[in-house]
Amino acid sequence: MTNQLAPPTGAMEGKGAYNRHAQHQASGGAMVLPLLEGAIAAVSFDGEQPIVVVDYGASQGRNSLAPMRLAIDAVRARVGARRPILIYHEDLPINDFNALFDTLHNDPGRYVVDRTNVFPCAIGRSFYEQVLPDSTVDVGWSSYAAMWISRVPMAIPGHFLPLRAPDAVRAAFERQLEADWERFLSLRAREMRPGGRLVVSIPGANDDGTFGFDEVLDQANAALAEMVAEGALTADERARMVHGGVPRPLRDLVAPFARDPNFAGLRLEHSEAFPVPDIVWNAFEKDGDREALARARASFFRVTFAPTLAGALENPGDPERRRAFFDRLETGLQRRLLEAPAPVRALIAAVVLAKSEAPSGKTQSA
Ligand SMILES: C[S@@+](CC[C@H](N)C(=O)[O-])C[C@H]1O[C@@H](n2cnc3c(N)ncnc32)[C@H](O)[C@@H]1O
Repeated sequence: MTNQLAPPTGAMEGKGAYNRHAQHQASGGAMVLPLLEGAIAAVSFDGEQPIVVVDYGASQGRNSLAPMRLAIDAVRARVGARRPILIYHEDLPINDFNALFDTLHNDPGRYVVDRTNVFPCAIGRSFYEQVLPDSTVDVGWSSYAAMWISRVPMAIPGHFLPLRAPDAVRAAFERQLEADWERFLSLRAREMRPGGRLVVSIPGANDDGTFGFDEVLDQANAALAEMVAEGALTADERARMVHGGVPRPLRDLVAPFARDPNFAGLRLEHSEAFPVPDIVWNAFEKDGDREALARARASFFRVTFAPTLAGALENPGDPERRRAFFDRLETGLQRRLLEAPAPVRALIAAVVLAKSEAPSGKTQSA
């Protein structure tokens, strides 16, 4: 396995851990909700068939509840109470779907409370494949997921972040990201009904690729080097670690439409990058609790990044080794972050896309 790269798993830490520590992604997703509401106001809800809403890259579902509640209410405002609404939560087969179903059933914010004629469903398949039949999706939502590459093109010397790779390696990642984004768009375009809308947001980056969390991730990289020095990790395992979730500048998301305004039959209706509030830093400014700040940053890193890095362990399926890796990395990172508390200036980059209406030009039934 020495020369093989870890697969770009992308899945988050299981047993509901992601749900508990993904407040940053929740804050970012909240910035994009007005775009979702505006997009739904413009959908053509022709016919009598159930309305289909898809949440691509749902993970364990807690961060999906607010957008799905909003989507259901906005659809209801358009079509009334009679038409059933199907909500599909899609993710990789290795996702923790037990946690997802638990969230949908038990979370206090679950969208089925007080909302009738709504049917949650789940799909365990990569979004780099078609996940629903042609022309069936009215509304698509994807938050903090479409920045995941489908394959890792190369190892990155000395780091796990493509941003820190030498130019030639970084260029290989750029090519992969570009091809994957075009594939993602083309597949979604097939699934969407004419007149449907798709709202996609990912962690944004500045033009030079920096994205706010790079300093935290440099500290995590240093913690990994310590683990190698201590014998907690082999040099081969470390060398295989690559994180394939790559924040991108807004211009990369709109690039296919700059070349072809009708790319894959989709039209770009809106694009915007928003600063994401640093809720952890805001709390630190109030209470001055450095430990709480370091703990929160390290937990965020653990649930979001560590599972993919653990894919490079010699025996990634060994639960003991995996847990020891997570724990040691989290502790090492937390210790380092304690020394230099700093705010994170992150962005979320979002696009709203419309599928062209059918040539027959039916009228809306709203
Ligand atoms: C950071 S989580 C985002 C979860 C949630 N949407 C949110 O806003 O918090 C990224 C999710 O994308 C999923 N993902 C990564 N690559 C994927 C792929 N090829 N197909 C489907 N889901 C994928 C991961 O499994 C993970 O659950």
